[in-house]
Amino acid sequence: LTAEWSVEQAQKGGYDHFMLKEIYEQPRALADTVHPRISDGLPSFEAQDDIPEGFWRQFDTISIVACGTAMHAGMIGKNLIERLARIPVECDIASEFRYRDPILGKHSLVLLISQSGETADTLAALRLARERGATTLAVVNVTGSSIAREADYVIRTFAGPEIAVASTKAYSVQLSVMYLIAIRLALANRAVDDARARELTSGLLGAIETTKDVLGLNVEIKEYIKRYESLRDLFFLGRGLDYALSMEGSLKLKEISYIHCEAYAAGELKHGTISLVTEGVPVVAVATQETLLPKMVSNIKEVHSRGADVLLVCKQGLEVDPEIYSKRLDLPALDDLFMPVVGVIVLQLLAYHTAVLRGCDVDKPRNLAKSVTVE
Ligand code: AGP
Repeated sequence: LTAEWSVEQAQKGGYDHFMLKEIYEQPRALADTVHPRISDGLPSFEAQDDIPEGFWRQFDTISIVACGTAMHAGMIGKNLIERLARIPVECDIASEFRYRDPILGKHSLVLLISQSGETADTLAALRLARERGATTLAVVNVTGSSIAREADYVIRTFAGPEIAVASTKAYSVQLSVMYLIAIRLALANRAVDDARARELTSGLLGAIETTKDVLGLNVEIKEYIKRYESLRDLFFLGRGLDYALSMEGSLKLKEISYIHCEAYAAGELKHGTISLVTEGVPVVAVATQETLLPKMVSNIKEVHSRGADVLLVCKQGLEVDPEIYSKRLDLPALDDLFMPVVGVIVLQLLAYHTAVLRGCDVDKPRNLAKSVTVE
C-alpha cells in the first residue's frame, strides 16, 4: 500500500474475492483515470501529468514495452495509435525487447506500461531505452515506483490498490490511457481534425459509462461456465482488436483456473492449430468487430463443423447464424474501436467464475506473484 491509499480500499468490501471487487470497481477506476485528462472535450495530459502539448509532435516511431496483462493493453494501444495517429508502433514483451538490440533514437518514444511499476524486465527495458536516447513515458498505477521514478514522463492510472494477482481494473485503466494517448497523438500529428478528435473522446467516455451495464452479464456468465468444470483445454479466437482482447482473456483464464488455453488470431487457425479442434473442444469466439464479422463467422463455422462448443462474445445487433454457436453473449453496440473497453469485462468474469467453480485460489493463484521483481 502507498500513503495515498486507505486501508479500507484494501479490504474485500463484502465481495467473495478481491478479484471480483476489482472487476466491479472498473467503472469508477476508469472515470477516475480518464476524467482528469479531458479538457474542453479533448484529451490533455498537461494539467494532470505535466506533459506539454508539444510533446506529442516529436516522435516518428513508438515502442510499447510491458509484460503479461500490461503487454496486452499495449497490443490494443498499438492498434489504436497506428489506426488513429498513423505512427508506426511496435509492441514488445519487455523480456524480448531487452535482448533484441532495439533500434531507438531521439525521435523514438518508448511507452512502458506497468501496474506495479516494479517489474524487473520492464524496468530494464526502460533503462535500455534511456541509454539509447529514446524518450520514455511510463503508464503506472503505483506512485513512487521504480519505473515511475526513472521514466522521463509518467501518466498515473487511478485504479486504486489492485490486490488480486490477476490484473483486471489495472488493465482497463491502462487501456483507457491508450485511447487518450492515441487520440492526443492523432490530433497533434494532424491525422484527425478537431471534430473527429472530439467524437473519439466522447466515444471513449460513452464506453466507460457503458461498462456498468456489462457487469449485468455476471449471472449469465456464471451459469454458462458450469460446463468448464473439468475442462483441460480451451481456445480463444479473435481478429484485430478482438485478437488482442482474446490474449488477455486467455491469460486471465489460464492464470486463475489452470486451464490450458490459447488465444489465436482466427485467420491463423487453418495454419496448424485447427488440427486440435475436435468434438466438444470449447472455443470462445470474440467477434465484436463489425468490419471483420464475415471473416470471423467463417472461422467459427470452421471450428463448429469440427465439433467445437462455441461461446460467441458478440455485439448487440450483429447477425450471426445461431446454428454455429451454443451460447451468445451480447455486448452493448458501441463503435468497433471502443469494444475492448466493454469486452474485457466479459472475459474477466468468465475467468473469475470458472476459477471459483474449480475451487482455485482466485486471488493468489499457485506459482504467481503480484509483481515479478526478479528476472
Ligand atoms: C496479470 O494478470 C498478471 N498478474 C501479470 O501478467 C502482470 O500483468 C505482469 O506481471 C505485469 O505486471 P505489471 O503491470 O505490474 O508490470
